[in-house]
Amino acid sequence: MKNRINELLVEVNKMVANNAEELEALRIKYLSKKGLVSELFNDFRNVANEEKREVGQLLNDLKNSTQNRINDLKETFSNQKPEASKSDLTRSADPVKLGTRHPLSLTKNEIVDIFSRIGFTIAEGPEIEDDWHVFGALNFPPEHPARDMQDTFFIEQNPDVVLRTHTSSVQSRIMANTKPPIRMIFPGRVYRNEAISYRAHCFFHQVEGLYIDKNVSFADLKQALMYFAKEMFGEDTEIRLRPSYFPFTEPSAEMDISCHICGGKGCPFCKHTGWVEILGCGMVDPNVLENCGIDSKVYSGYAFGMGVERITNLKYQVKDLRMFSENDLRFLGQFEAAY
Ligand code: PHE
Repeated sequence: MKNRINELLVEVNKMVANNAEELEALRIKYLSKKGLVSELFNDFRNVANEEKREVGQLLNDLKNSTQNRINDLKETFSNQKPEASKSDLTRSADPVKLGTRHPLSLTKNEIVDIFSRIGFTIAEGPEIEDDWHVFGALNFPPEHPARDMQDTFFIEQNPDVVLRTHTSSVQSRIMANTKPPIRMIFPGRVYRNEAISYRAHCFFHQVEGLYIDKNVSFADLKQALMYFAKEMFGEDTEIRLRPSYFPFTEPSAEMDISCHICGGKGCPFCKHTGWVEILGCGMVDPNVLENCGIDSKVYSGYAFGMGVERITNLKYQVKDLRMFSENDLRFLGQFEAAY
């Protein structure tokens, strides 16, 4: 009996199985009711009494070893399942890191959204423009410094083809081919030949607004801009219009908002004035209307243009506008919002 047990123990330790069927065959061979190990258990009653204790122990060890060996074998090939069964379709998906919108897009979308709520629609124009749409139609005299090399990028030394320096060029395009009433905003990128620093870049973004109809007054302009400032920066925001000059508007103004960082009390951000400038605006100059084929005796209108970078800086307190074009994900990843 003892010999037989030892023989089986050696056999069991050498068992190999390559798949579940082979393993099941081994289980049946040794452990089933009629299996080799079970047979030995049946013979146990014939063992002499004085040996029962020792043999019983050996038999139990054999049974356990056989079971353990079978378990071990099972594990080896359950770890190497065929490819297809590896994918558990009920498992939750790997987390995918979603991108975030660029802060300038967030601001632009919010501006568009605010104006679309009071009936403004959107249009766009080309970034590579001709002199007429950027300057001529907008009443810039031929010697105006904005046409100078220092400000404007010219394409291939051709003084007639320029990168637009402001989105007001879209005003001249739209007025020339649209019958009033016109109530539109024009978001877009503009270019100026400036040295790059924390506060200036050779390209930046603007949103232009244009409203042309009968009897449009400066009061309408002020009301629209006040609505915008409060929607964008909060109900407590105040606006201030300072007289200014643009060739294409008369009268012209620049608009400040009360500094929303210090609430108007004065801080380094607003240079202790309590106000920050955010846009230029005015009543469309009658010359511009006529240049674009609109009868200035029948129609009047207002226009405004704001810098998207400026507003983003204020809203999110970004101090260096070079951050917007460096594609640093640590910076960009912080902007998660609904727009
Ligand atoms: N185009 C002007 C600028 O770039 C802004 C502006 C737009 C002013 C419309 C008045 C009316 O500074």
